Amino acid sequence: MDFASFDTRGYRTVDVRTGYREWVPTYENTVQDAMDIALLDELESVEWRGRAADLGCGTGRTAAWLRARGVGVIDGVDLTPEMLEVARRRGAHDRLREGDVADTGLPRAAYDLVVASLVDEHLPDLTPLYEEARRLARPGGAFVLVCFHPHFIMATGMPTHFTGASGEPLAIATHVHLLSDHVATGLATGWTLAELREGVIDERWLEVKPKWERFRHHPISVAYAWT
Ligand SMILES: C[S@@+](CC[C@H](N)C(=O)[O-])C[C@H]1O[C@@H](n2cnc3c(N)ncnc32)[C@H](O)[C@@H]1O
Repeated sequence: MDFASFDTRGYRTVDVRTGYREWVPTYENTVQDAMDIALLDELESVEWRGRAADLGCGTGRTAAWLRARGVGVIDGVDLTPEMLEVARRRGAHDRLREGDVADTGLPRAAYDLVVASLVDEHLPDLTPLYEEARRLARPGGAFVLVCFHPHFIMATGMPTHFTGASGEPLAIATHVHLLSDHVATGLATGWTLAELREGVIDERWLEVKPKWERFRHHPISVAYAWT
């Protein structure tokens, strides 16, 4: 769904590579663990072990969490070289590749886990991501997505954004995917939904974003675990 009809900010919009290249120096200070790590912590159906593909791996926040949970081997793919450079320095991945989540170049049926955290809002179409995850997962493997909740994007009219070096707020191309879009796409590409969790604005959020009091109890993120 086109984000433009929800936009209340009117920030200048840049493409993914341009945006993350400029955001990289401050990225880790602005992304809250309450968004994604808290939901990963809540998932009960996933065995965090074996070999993982980390799609849209960014600076390696997700991989550091996967390692801490016992995943032995992690291969990461991302479109933005500057994000990959930080991931390389962090050292949580075994292999890192520059590439698109729709066509990763990683080996077929090789992964116990495929993870994509905070990436889907940059994809105009979900099908190529789900198909690639299916290609990468071994039989019985899992696909875990953590996403910006469509309700929050619509309710706030706020795209994924950051403050650029010049002080200008910049949006990174954002798309809205309903929960039903994910469910329909997952089922159509051969996955079975094992678990779904939603993260809401709670005390933990309000400590870091007090001005979001008006959004208390609104869902801001969602995690899907597919098998
Ligand atoms: C919000 S960051 C998330 C990074 C990391 N997973 C995390 O949770 O911190 C989104 C990342 O997705 C990457 N990305 C966006 N679209 C992509 C695509 N089509 N293929 C590969 N990477 C993509 C961006 O370069 C960026 O590093």
